[in-house]
Amino acid sequence: MALLIGANVRRGMDEHDHVKEHEALRLVATLVARGVPAEEIFAAVTEQAAAVLDADIAGLMRFESKEEMTTLATWSRIGEPAPVGVRWALEGDNISAEIARTGRPARRDSYDSATGPLADISRGLGVRQGVAAPVVVNGELWGLLAMFTAREQPLAPQTEARLADFTDLLATAVANAESRNELAASRARIVAAADDARRRIERDLHDGAQQLLVSVGLQLRAAEAEIPPGLNTLRQALAKAMQGLADAQSELQKIARGIHPAILAEGGLTPALKTLARRSPIPVALAVAPHARLPEQLEVAAYYVVSEALTNAAKHGGASLVNVDVQVSDQAVKIAIGDNGSGGADPAKGSGLIGLMDRVATLGGTFAIDSPPGAGTDLRVELPVGPA
Ligand SMILES: Nc1ncnc2c1ncn2[C@@H]1O[C@H](COP(=O)(O)OP(=O)(O)OP(=O)(O)O)[C@@H](O)[C@H]1O
Ligand SMILES: [Mg+2]
Repeated sequence: MALLIGANVRRGMDEHDHVKEHEALRLVATLVARGVPAEEIFAAVTEQAAAVLDADIAGLMRFESKEEMTTLATWSRIGEPAPVGVRWALEGDNISAEIARTGRPARRDSYDSATGPLADISRGLGVRQGVAAPVVVNGELWGLLAMFTAREQPLAPQTEARLADFTDLLATAVANAESRNELAASRARIVAAADDARRRIERDLHDGAQQLLVSVGLQLRAAEAEIPPGLNTLRQALAKAMQGLADAQSELQKIARGIHPAILAEGGLTPALKTLARRSPIPVALAVAPHARLPEQLEVAAYYVVSEALTNAAKHGGASLVNVDVQVSDQAVKIAIGDNGSGGADPAKGSGLIGLMDRVATLGGTFAIDSPPGAGTDLRVELPVGPA
């Protein structure tokens, strides 16, 4: 703390400035930590920096290339701020072009001689001077944060250093958002790849193995018809083989259904969940509110959530009852599953729950598991229903 105050004194700030700046930075840092959408952070940083540094106009720009930048946030107390989302050519003699070239803070104590499309507009608004600092994300020049005034006296000499505190926070926010997007994209790829593989296996089973067994069955039946009377032992042996074949077929059918349940595509969630409940080795109290068909991805996700939870309750929990409640509204599918088993579920110990979390996250949903040892397991999943 003493060090910080020392640094601020060197920057020529009084205690009041220091408190104001500290509050502004803390406010922005809170937004960054909460992971609020990037646009909100951009607007907040721009406005807070302008207030703390006593600017008349402030703008946050992102470099698109060496030639262009986009306005991400603007703030002004002297007339209309420039609209957000506009692209500007990085040409002329001005602080944006200078930062794009040098990657270092830039200052202009007079706008009389500045050139370029944005400089012309700024001058029209009465801007006399400006200071800007680069935003550097993971070592790359990403954009800039600029402060302008319409006053005579130059912006304080410590403005560049103080701006850097804000651009550092911005860089963290941008890096966070980028890694969140990357994570979401990789989760979506994993889920899509798994679904593709499942569909392929189901098709191969159906078109390959199952068809083969059907034709073997027909051959056996034909052979049975050819058995001369009196060969009872052979007839019995053949009948046994045919029964074995029928069992193998139904086993295969069950596997195929579990991999990518055809009943889900045909009848929707309700009959598919009823089938799951019927097949469960432990009793299931199932309540599914009547609803219209949902987009395929949602039905598939809801089905796998229930399927995995029922399997886990039986396999790990030793439960004697599972409650499954599914509510569907225009906004969301809400799934609540509770078992009375041993609890202690831990996603880190397997791949089932993590797979569900990926699937749910990909759909923008929420996933919560509560599983204290000895007190059963509660799973709550909410999937947003997008506009049809
Ligand atoms: N309902 C439950 N009751 C008690 N323990 C559970 C329950 N569900 C999960 N667990 C515990 O959490 C761990 C992780 O579950 P998860 O479904 O992710 O993996 P898994 O079932 O072990 O393997 P997989 O699902 O990949 O076949 C389980 O190994 C088990 O120890
Ligand atoms: Mg599991």
